[in-house]
Amino acid sequence: MAEVWSMQNINDPLYRAKFVNCPDIIEDWLSEHGGLAGRDVLEFGCGEGTMSLGMALRKETRRVVGVEILDVLKQCLHLARREIRLESLPANLDLFQITPGQQLLQFGQFDLVYSWSVFEHVSQDLLAQVLSSIKAVLKPQGLFFLQISPLYYSSNGSHMGPWVKEPWAHLSMQEDAFHRALLTAAPTPANVRSEWSVYIPIEADTPTERAALWDTYITLNKVTATQLCRMVREAGLEIVRDYRTKTDAAVPPHLAEIYQEDVLTTEQIVLLMRRA
Ligand SMILES: C[S@@+](CC[C@H](N)C(=O)[O-])C[C@H]1O[C@@H](n2cnc3c(N)ncnc32)[C@H](O)[C@@H]1O
Repeated sequence: MAEVWSMQNINDPLYRAKFVNCPDIIEDWLSEHGGLAGRDVLEFGCGEGTMSLGMALRKETRRVVGVEILDVLKQCLHLARREIRLESLPANLDLFQITPGQQLLQFGQFDLVYSWSVFEHVSQDLLAQVLSSIKAVLKPQGLFFLQISPLYYSSNGSHMGPWVKEPWAHLSMQEDAFHRALLTAAPTPANVRSEWSVYIPIEADTPTERAALWDTYITLNKVTATQLCRMVREAGLEIVRDYRTKTDAAVPPHLAEIYQEDVLTTEQIVLLMRRA
């Protein structure tokens, strides 16, 4: 039976971005490669599973599997009930909690694997393993779409911009001063807390919230666009399309003395890949 749901009353702009905009962007990227209809799709690092749900309900995909290391994927139906009035998750969607670096072949083989704002969070020592396990689940003509924003060395690469506003503060400030600035920053606005719901339980007090933010910051892997492209090639993937966006912010002279300008200003990378 077809699921009953409606996008008319979506209240949370982030929910709309994940349920509507991100799947639309990926569909657009896939338009020259046969689109999404009838495809088997894997989302790597699906968080609360909202994007996977959008893929399953809105894109005529055959099967969508979302995998995630945190148990936040249990929130998928709760959020969908609130935002799109969905009663139960569709039969073509499966969400699984995995361990970091777990092989993915048990979930099947896929026409498309995608990951959105995930790869900067994958532990450095697991990056190569994760890339090769994604390659292993691609069907022969399968594609891998990967998006990262913001990259670590860009102006908000710390992900801590809502609390420590100075661009590139994480590269400029002494580490203990940066930590103090985060701990003493103004209370987090409700919309920002909602955007961080994957990492910070909504009921968390301020010390718990700041500890979770610091943990998120110190576990970023610092990968650059150039390094990522090298690593995907080393994993046996061929880059079909490479799209990057840059910040408008002016690079402070003291950072230009240390880092390559291109590394500091490249904010986002989007790659489409296939088996080499
Ligand atoms: C910023 S969130 C993005 C979640 C989701 N893609 C979205 O846009 O809503 C990053 C996610 O990557 C997940 N993640 C980090 N390392 C991972 C790994 N090794 N395997 C799977 N997921 C991972 C995190 O647990 C987190 O849910």
